Amino acid sequence: MIYQNDGIENGMSRQDMCILPEARPEAVSRDTIEALLAKMTLQEKIGQLQQLDASGDPLAEDFLQAVRAGKVGSIINQVDPETSNTLQRVAVEESRLGIPLISARDVIHGFRTVFPIPLGQAASWNPGLVEQAARISALEARRNGVHWTFAPMVDISRDPRWGRIAESFGEDPYLSGCLGASMVRGFQTSDLQNHGAIAACAKHFAGYGASESGRDYNSTNIPDNELRNVYLPPFRAAAEAGAATFMCSFGDLDGIPATANDYLIRQILRGEWEFDGLVVSDWNSVKELVVHGLCEDARAAAKAAASAGVDIEMAGDAYQAHLESLVVSGQISIETIDGMVLNVLRLKERLGLFEKPYTAADEYPPLLSEAAKELAKDLATQSLVLLKNEDRTLPLKPAELSSIAVIGPLADAAQDQLGTWVFDGHADDSVTPLAAIRQRFGETLPVRYACGLPYSRSRDQGGFDEAVAVAAASDVALVFLGEESILSGEAHCRADLSLPGAQAELLEQIRKTGTRTIVIVMAGRPLVLTDTLKHMDALVYAWHPGTFAGPAIADLLFGDADPFGKLPVTFPKAVGQIPVYYNHKKTGRPPEGSEITLIDEIPVGAQQTSLGMSAFHLDQGFEPLFPFGFGLTYSEFTQSDLQLTANRIEMAGKLGLSCKLTNIGQRRASELVQLYIRDVAGSLTRPVRELKSFKRVSLEPGASEVIRFELTQADLAFSRRDKTFGAEPGKFEVWVGTSSVGGMTATFELLG
Ligand code: GLC
Repeated sequence: MIYQNDGIENGMSRQDMCILPEARPEAVSRDTIEALLAKMTLQEKIGQLQQLDASGDPLAEDFLQAVRAGKVGSIINQVDPETSNTLQRVAVEESRLGIPLISARDVIHGFRTVFPIPLGQAASWNPGLVEQAARISALEARRNGVHWTFAPMVDISRDPRWGRIAESFGEDPYLSGCLGASMVRGFQTSDLQNHGAIAACAKHFAGYGASESGRDYNSTNIPDNELRNVYLPPFRAAAEAGAATFMCSFGDLDGIPATANDYLIRQILRGEWEFDGLVVSDWNSVKELVVHGLCEDARAAAKAAASAGVDIEMAGDAYQAHLESLVVSGQISIETIDGMVLNVLRLKERLGLFEKPYTAADEYPPLLSEAAKELAKDLATQSLVLLKNEDRTLPLKPAELSSIAVIGPLADAAQDQLGTWVFDGHADDSVTPLAAIRQRFGETLPVRYACGLPYSRSRDQGGFDEAVAVAAASDVALVFLGEESILSGEAHCRADLSLPGAQAELLEQIRKTGTRTIVIVMAGRPLVLTDTLKHMDALVYAWHPGTFAGPAIADLLFGDADPFGKLPVTFPKAVGQIPVYYNHKKTGRPPEGSEITLIDEIPVGAQQTSLGMSAFHLDQGFEPLFPFGFGLTYSEFTQSDLQLTANRIEMAGKLGLSCKLTNIGQRRASELVQLYIRDVAGSLTRPVRELKSFKRVSLEPGASEVIRFELTQADLAFSRRDKTFGAEPGKFEVWVGTSSVGGMTATFELLG
């Protein structure tokens, strides 16, 4: 897959990005990992495959004794530098072979500085900023003794009922691959021995996002063609970006849990992709093979996972308890164990842990550095998506305002704005929208606040009167609605995607005051806003924007920042449409606008075939509420003059495309131009559109720019019916536009 958008587009200096000089540990003479392996006993080898949870009391004697005895290869959830160094000293100086520990932590969208949730980062469509955020996160984590993060999560997520869509980059394989690769580079830099580099982990391999009914940990049944053309490409991109580790998912894929799925791990990851990194289980997922019903007992589970290629068992003891007897009894070969151990030792070597096992916090920038704060605000700003802006309600002009109402359960929710997977961020660091707006106007403009509801799920309407009064007394009502952070993330799935609690009722009451109403939604997923959209003059989707949600949102609302965001995921009109996503198949009976007769328009006594016979829902049609790639700007752009360098290309050729973009509005603005293709006929049916590139353009009013793209056969390639990867000759359609709908279109032919 060619990722044309993997550069650092914002040009922050290497210093700003805190990629400090590549201070490499001084080389010391030591055993090669193979020589070290040869010295290890079977128990010491098995010890390297054990990852212990160190969130309790890791300095307790039994924990230290396990480390001293060489029974622990890595730890998870220990982020105090001194404690980490103490444990490391026991491993290096008191165990027989002195093999250092690896320390792991979920640094998903920040460590102490919290960036937008990954779904929000995806809405920025900015690989450079995503990479820089990962860089900052890695420095903060490494400062605290962390060597390995369990990110990027690159599960394709088409189901907003699934709580973990919050951790993903959305529904598109190209965008997810591009951003996942950026995050890998940000965490790892060019060399894991660089100062502040940490090992990345592409997860959850694979197909987790297809959990049935959006219920976490549920079964996934994915035909191989779909697996290879939708769910695997972002993992392939992460591997090609050099991801040092992979994590297998909890779920069963077509009846075989990923933790024991040798097709995924040995045939595809290690065989076809030649991945030589490390594979870690998910939390206790080895022993869960028994619960799944794949294995009779933990011993069988240890055998199944080790045979499938899972090197480290996270937070479980099946390997520790059973691998020795499995080897002694000949059910697992020592060669298998040696291969697993070498993967662990190689990761420690790549991280430079043999030469430099200890953490020196003072060698790193402080947590929440100025560079970190600025970047977190920038990325939060660019993650905001303007979905509605009736009569150019936004940006607000403070000079025309005499008072502002700030309302809603998410207006001053310091913890919730951080989102899910925030282990090391502090709510006290948060700058909420209320705080930012008050700070911005001080005494110059009255800012009245009423939460209306104490938290997002609340049905207590006791605060409505105050909120309505505050709105009625103000020129504009900024209403912050959405989800508490606990309502998304792992194991937090919802079957009803409307605004929780009595938020819709609150909004309706505010709307009745006649005050201009601007809604800002903070949530970990697309919500179904179909029935509430009419109560908003403007809608900004903020996801969970992190520590600096407030300043980012305030800058956008008052015009100090332009809308950059585009949707990385489709917004359904109703839960019943799910799964609904842009890159769907055409079917043999695609719905055409004219044919659609919606349920309320059906004549009484309608004859069975009178409604046409095509693929749509009688009550919702087939279009989503907002499509993938959609996002408004504060100006207006037109496209013209789509040109192709040819209307047919050889397999080894290149196709150039260009299109003129003009800012016909009254203010400078930024637009994201997207390139889509459709393979009209293939050995497999192909999606109606596939994103293949995107470019950002900022233009002054009246200015134009010609945007150029290039396509080669690699961009047109897919996993074909015969399982080979490549393009197929034939006709292609191409679109250049500003969302996955519409745009300028042309056709070309790829010759055989
Ligand atoms: C969790 C998650 C995984 C995470 C791991 C360690 O259950 O599935 O994404 O990295 O355990 O916390």
